[in-house]
Amino acid sequence: MNIVLGISGGIAAYKAPEIVRALVKRGHTVRCVLTSAATRLVTAEALAAVSRQPVFTSAWTTDGSMPHIDLARWADLVVVAPATADVLARFALGMADDLLTTMFLALEPAKRVLLVPAMNTVMWHKAVVQSHVATLRAGGAQILAPVEGSLACGEQGVGAMVEPETIAGTVG
Ligand SMILES: Cc1cc2nc3c(=O)[nH]c(=O)nc-3n(C[C@H](O)[C@H](O)[C@H](O)COP(=O)(O)O)c2cc1C
Repeated sequence: MNIVLGISGGIAAYKAPEIVRALVKRGHTVRCVLTSAATRLVTAEALAAVSRQPVFTSAWTTDGSMPHIDLARWADLVVVAPATADVLARFALGMADDLLTTMFLALEPAKRVLLVPAMNTVMWHKAVVQSHVATLRAGGAQILAPVEGSLACGEQGVGAMVEPETIAGTVG
């Protein structure tokens, strides 16, 4: 399958190269799209090296291509891992203010979407976050909910991203 892996700016972004490797091992072709925040947490160069595919960090080009449309057409499946509270909100509200959100909006409704949220426990349990998750689920997205773990913020609780192998196993 052609898979776009969207990576937003959660600390679990450091695990994104492992997700790419697990998907490639299963025979998939993976192209990564990073939000601006994600580029602070994982490098485009590492992702390009493990995917052996171009990596996208901006909607703006000078070669006449339109990555938000091209990637939306190319993808059989879009996985977003980690999905921040911010990106869930922007997806749910139909915002299109960067490459990842614009591509998400440009996806044909029949395309499969797998969202893998990860965040601080208090953030995850906020009603507004749960309402965005419910909106996205109602729109057809599959949600791989965060699990209990020791979080980067020092708390123990629900909010940790599921492991890369679990994500790849869910993709199939
Ligand atoms: C070190 C660090 C770690 C963060 N981890 C998370 C996280 O795990 N989940 C989350 O929802 N936001 C997290 N944030 C906040 C997001 O980076 C912030 O909301 C950002 O605007 C997200 O942008 P994006 O959704 O475009 O990637 C973190 C911020 C910092 C500075």
